[in-house]
Amino acid sequence: VCRGLSSSAVRAAAIKHVTIIGGGQMGAGIAQVAASTGHTVTLVDTSDDILKKAVKGIEGSLKRVVKKKFADKPEAGEEFIQKVLQNVSVSTDAGAAAQTLSHLCFIYYNTSSLPISDIASSTNRLDRFGGLHFFNPVPMMKLVEVIGTSATSQETFDSLLNFSKALGKTPVSCKDTPGFIVNRLLVPYVLEAIRLHERGHGSKEDIDIAMKLGAGYPMGPFELSDYVGLDTMKFIMDGWNEKDPDNPLFAPSEMLNKLVAEGKYGKKTGEGFYKYK
Ligand code: CAA
Repeated sequence: VCRGLSSSAVRAAAIKHVTIIGGGQMGAGIAQVAASTGHTVTLVDTSDDILKKAVKGIEGSLKRVVKKKFADKPEAGEEFIQKVLQNVSVSTDAGAAAQTLSHLCFIYYNTSSLPISDIASSTNRLDRFGGLHFFNPVPMMKLVEVIGTSATSQETFDSLLNFSKALGKTPVSCKDTPGFIVNRLLVPYVLEAIRLHERGHGSKEDIDIAMKLGAGYPMGPFELSDYVGLDTMKFIMDGWNEKDPDNPLFAPSEMLNKLVAEGKYGKKTGEGFYKYK
């Protein structure tokens, strides 16, 4: 959610302040990138604990970034971290943030699978509403998918493209279709890898090695599922399956369902397809 300027000044003005509702992995990552590129950010979530964890995550990730960027100048690196953190404020007052919404220029929604038009219809600012889809880990992944609905104005769509570029990302335009581009291709691929394993046609380890060394992916499908979160994978797939139950690409996987039912969500819980210390 971005607060810019009054509508007449919008076309020429760059977005300066970003309010992000949700301080999970994606929200914190977007906050980090926005703050690192000179925007002020308010990160909103329901509890101080979540927000503390989010800021700690941002700090940890910034340390990894500066280790490379300021390899020869650790002091400048520390200065950069402090400067970025100064750009981030936190709030548990969603009401106050919602109040700010009435003065907003644009509302952007980050979702992996929900239709942007469904979410837009709950607001009365359809022309100012669009989707931005970031990828995990946000500081490293260069792509942003930009989604306009039939009601999104050209001005809003242009602002989405410009904002993505201001964050140092490369935007691509997507239609408001399930999974946009990346997830529409990636999630069925990952699910088919799980089914391949379920059919006994390959071990998790071999499938991961095969896709890394044979197809050039940075992570194999099981590693990637654990990284993204099995709960997230299941949530996306269940949603699509509900809407299009006859599509075999969206068929559920027993193994995935079982792991999620056992609370094994991947890296974040210490166990998914693999175990983590
Ligand atoms: N913050 C800052 N830096 C990070 C980071 C983070 N969160 N994660 C990794 N890095 C940095 C590391 O510090 C490291 O830097 P150096 O090169 O200076 O050492 C560099 O990235 C490489 O990291 P690693 O050596 O730890 O491991 P890697 O080479 O495997 O890279 C990766 C990690 C960037 C995550 C890479 O494995 C990768 O690109 N994986 C695929 C990720 C992917 O496909 N994401 C999309 C998921 S789908 C999605 O997000 C959509 C959805 O809605 C579900």
